Amino acid sequence: MSWKGRTADIERPPIAEINALASELEGQGRDLVNLGQAILGLPPPVKAVERVREWIESTSLHVYAPDPGQPEAREAVAGFLRERKGIEASADRVILTCGANQAFVNSILAVTRPGDEVVLMVPGYFDHDFAVKLAGCVVREAPLRLEDGRYAIDIEALEAAMNERTRAVVLVSPGNPSGMVATRRETERLCEMCARRDVWLVSDEVYDLLTFPPVSHVSPASLGIHEKVIVLGSFSKVFALASWRVGYYAGPADMIEESIKVQDALVVCAPVPSQVAAMGAIESVDAYVPAAVEALIERRDALMDGLRGWSTVEALAPEGGTFLLARLGVVDDVEFCKDLLRETGVVTVPGSAFGAPGCVRISFGNQPAERIAEACERMRSFSA
Ligand SMILES: Cc1ncc(COP(=O)(O)O)c(C=O)c1O
Repeated sequence: MSWKGRTADIERPPIAEINALASELEGQGRDLVNLGQAILGLPPPVKAVERVREWIESTSLHVYAPDPGQPEAREAVAGFLRERKGIEASADRVILTCGANQAFVNSILAVTRPGDEVVLMVPGYFDHDFAVKLAGCVVREAPLRLEDGRYAIDIEALEAAMNERTRAVVLVSPGNPSGMVATRRETERLCEMCARRDVWLVSDEVYDLLTFPPVSHVSPASLGIHEKVIVLGSFSKVFALASWRVGYYAGPADMIEESIKVQDALVVCAPVPSQVAAMGAIESVDAYVPAAVEALIERRDALMDGLRGWSTVEALAPEGGTFLLARLGVVDDVEFCKDLLRETGVVTVPGSAFGAPGCVRISFGNQPAERIAEACERMRSFSA
């Protein structure tokens, strides 16, 4: 019998292969354009870093902090949720984590038992699939519906994926890699369905403020339809603080209290310097986010324009997030991304990593518009 445990049920994501190849080529001195990572390639808010500098100078004790987070950081996140997303949040219903990924793990471990089922929408974010399986639960997939050039939530497909063992449904909006921002009506219907079936709705909102007008994000927790909503947030995306590993989740008081057991077992608390950076980021939201979205739109347009002349791909206009999904005229997307990287030095991510074979995810958030235009020129010279 193999010594392997739960990890044996998970396939290594093809993204790891692409990253390994990229490192190898970089080692050979190749000039790569990375359109792989789903991040905002901008410096984080100045205040976030300043606050950390002040904190280091004023602190002599470096001890464990309260599990759910510094009281001021919890209050800052609650204020953000109230003011920016219309969620009736309070500090005691928020926990700071090492990124939204850990927030997802905490949430799933707190509301499921092994053997329970969790419904994920596809195309979707592979780490959710991994986390559900690592929790000993079963993943049920429900496809998003491609309609009028955008992805939409398919309530019928979700219902078909559910049964009496279903504990939770996961929504990612803005969606990775779909670029979908669920409409208010879709979100309402999803809440109504989850309320009727009495299942948790885990709402991953890490790209929340990164939407493209006239589209904007609606949190299911702001609608007052369903009590059992857990909101996941991150400072990695909107505030470009990915290396600081800080995010959060907010939910009903009893769920939050219960999940502190998971928090303690995994990390005790999110790194305090990162929580301080998070507070600085929230203070900067008005000054920082509009400019970040403007830069993102310029980058998105550079990519959409550049891809227009490339008959190999058919790009879907994203409604939010830092990337787009494009359909390929070829079948093996993993080989496609590797060949593209070897020949042109452009890093992209195969759609099969997200349950979208035959597609490629191309990020525009992490490169200036000129660099994206150059990447497109290189890609157009590549014949799949
Ligand atoms: C949908 C989604 N959720 C969560 C994460 C991870 O966020 P964090 O850096 O806060 O762990 C990502 C990162 O790519 C993501 O795309």
